[in-house]
Amino acid sequence: MTEDLKGLALDAIATSAAADDPDYPRFHVVPPVGRLNDPNGLLVDGGTFHAFYQFSPFHPHRKLVYWGHSSSADLLHWRHHEPTIVPDSFYDRSGAYSGNAIVLEGRELDDAPARAPYQLFYTGNLKDPVTDERTASQCLVTSGDLTDFAKWPGNPLIPTNAEGYTAHYRDPQVFRDPDRPGEYRMLIGVQRANESGAAVLYRSRDLVSWEPEGELTFPDAGGVFDSFGYMWECPGLVRVTDEDTGEDWDVLIWCPQGIAPQTEGFENIFPCVYTVGHLVGTELRDTGGAFHEVDRGFEFYAPQVFARRPSEPGPVLLTAWAGNASEDDQPSISTGQWVHALSLPRSLSLKEGRLIQRPATNLPHDVGRPALVDTALEAGQYEIAELRGYRSWQLRLEADAASDSDACWGLRIGTAESHVDIVLDGGVLRVDRSTSRYTQHGSVRAVTLPEGCAPVLEVIHDRSLTEVFVGDGALTFTLRSFVDVGSSGARLMLEEPLVLKTGSVRTFAPAPEVL
Ligand code: FRU
Repeated sequence: MTEDLKGLALDAIATSAAADDPDYPRFHVVPPVGRLNDPNGLLVDGGTFHAFYQFSPFHPHRKLVYWGHSSSADLLHWRHHEPTIVPDSFYDRSGAYSGNAIVLEGRELDDAPARAPYQLFYTGNLKDPVTDERTASQCLVTSGDLTDFAKWPGNPLIPTNAEGYTAHYRDPQVFRDPDRPGEYRMLIGVQRANESGAAVLYRSRDLVSWEPEGELTFPDAGGVFDSFGYMWECPGLVRVTDEDTGEDWDVLIWCPQGIAPQTEGFENIFPCVYTVGHLVGTELRDTGGAFHEVDRGFEFYAPQVFARRPSEPGPVLLTAWAGNASEDDQPSISTGQWVHALSLPRSLSLKEGRLIQRPATNLPHDVGRPALVDTALEAGQYEIAELRGYRSWQLRLEADAASDSDACWGLRIGTAESHVDIVLDGGVLRVDRSTSRYTQHGSVRAVTLPEGCAPVLEVIHDRSLTEVFVGDGALTFTLRSFVDVGSSGARLMLEEPLVLKTGSVRTFAPAPEVL
């Protein structure tokens, strides 16, 4: 008898106790039950944002990945929907893996055999139960209204990996070819037969028949990316504008597994990096071989940007999995039967070849400027009275540039016993969560600030998830922050003679959150 996989997932969701868990974030995309990993199929639709994600409703008892679905009008209040892709077809029985979305309009709709505006691409994962042999295929799901979804009857679109590659061949990103109107390209993360990572491109006019174009190459990179880890996951090409020069660049963002470069950073099990160039055919030119981590925090992986209709342009918004592989050992799996969250969307731009990432939204309740109250907690520690009682908040502080160079200042979230410290100290960001309830996979990390980094510290904290933005988006640091559930707000740690120039405090709830 075949299982009713959709019904089983809905039954699991009906048992959700996550909302009663004091660690459950309030304005992030979180699973109602089970496990979440990569964001998938992010799209904007007439002012509504849809976030799909890798969703394992039966975690940790049974491994089976669906696409979960949440939507929001403001990127802060999210509503859960039924799972969108159920792994119940012959080609995705071992999981509906990651992919992206494209939203069609006008002539594009007439030219697509699946005449539906919303087209979601994903990898069908199939493991032979006897031999354990894997087959990866690229598949399509369409929808006319984002409520009902149909698997394309001609699935799989690309039934297997190309010759010269292994079955680690996944995570399609489909995008319009800006150089050839009416044509689309698909970028796929792959492993070569010699067990090195790469990305390949396919081309299509109708989104269902795809022709292989070959590997993405980096002619000006001096060979840096030729043998760069054993597998590339979740590659994405994103066009981003330099905010000083107005020039457009193609930014490749991807997750190479198994690299250990001899530079600062790269402490996570798998990193997420970017390189900046110009895409011409299958060549990403002008990268110079330079690459950087997208975010320097403990938990950040597999980001992608929201797809938009051409007639609905807007900022480039990026969302990531605020997690990483092998990190399912978080307290929430026993307190609320859920694990992991997506990061808040951030808007992307470029400055001198480096990504600038700023929060895409502000929390709804503007409490004004912090009037620091020295409650004599300890020398140099000030309570931020406006945050008292809140466990979901946003704080932006700007120091006087002249006094910043050697000063040491920052925030403590939590109590004296259980906290996360976020400190700027002489050109270094130091994050210490060693006294929190989640210290595995990294507890203290120091990050050198980019040159000329402005003394601006913005922190967005949502119960057990913290996102740090330094220097007006020049550096970001995402982490899970399971501090004492009884604690609220934050205190400022300030060394004289640093002068705070401005500050703002925002909270999620209009009244303090009582536990
Ligand atoms: C990245 C990843 C993807 C894959 C998905 C499976 O976290 O491993 O490569 O499609 O997760 O859940």
